[in-house]
Amino acid sequence: MPSALTLPEGLELREDERGLALVGDGMELRGDLSRMLPRLRPANLRRELLVRAARVRGAAAPTAVDATAGLGEDALLLAAAGFEVTLFERDAVIAALLADALRRARLDEALAAHARRMHLVEGDGVAGLRTMGTSPDLVFLDPMFPERRKRGATNKKLQLFQRLERPCDSEGALLEAALGAARHKVVVKRPLKGPHLAGAKPSSSLSGKVVRYDTYVPVG
Ligand SMILES: C[S@@+](CC[C@H](N)C(=O)[O-])C[C@H]1O[C@@H](n2cnc3c(N)ncnc32)[C@H](O)[C@@H]1O
Repeated sequence: MPSALTLPEGLELREDERGLALVGDGMELRGDLSRMLPRLRPANLRRELLVRAARVRGAAAPTAVDATAGLGEDALLLAAAGFEVTLFERDAVIAALLADALRRARLDEALAAHARRMHLVEGDGVAGLRTMGTSPDLVFLDPMFPERRKRGATNKKLQLFQRLERPCDSEGALLEAALGAARHKVVVKRPLKGPHLAGAKPSSSLSGKVVRYDTYVPVG
């Protein structure tokens, strides 16, 4: 169990035989990558909008950075699609939950190969992208959208998550760092009708029923 983490009032981290959980307000939140298994079946994975948006041509061993990792579910889709993924998560509590989810996933036969391609770095994604020294084929961004908080979370897991998460205060810096680092493309997840990240018009978009993936191509 990580020590000396500052938690919002009424929340605590507990560890039991199922791993680390954030507990409070009568709710519980764990990182759980196993719930993604149905989406990882090859026929389903191919249809995932993120996987379609993330496709890069000609990279034998493609690399990606998920600069806003959260609980790692989108990064898992990228890892299952063959990317070696570096995940940045700046919130220490969310990073601890994700580290624990990855630890358990590496022990799960169905997830281990994917989880071994996921490398968590606790820290700020903007700084990480600016200093990583290599160019990932893809950078993926999914910062919290302020409207999501206003509308109120629809499920209990999200309600706890949102007590930790801060709305993105650095959309411009995030997109600029991503475009500066990516070799092929930057993919940004947005709510279906949400505005473009930092007001920047993407090169293309793929829309589903509730989310949209905007793709930006770095110049030069
Ligand atoms: C909407 S969640 C991402 C959910 C994630 N795509 C998933 O599949 O679980 C956004 C996350 O990005 C993190 N975040 C936001 N800005 C960040 C930054 N500059 N660097 C690192 N993490 C950041 C937040 O703490 C939060 O955990």
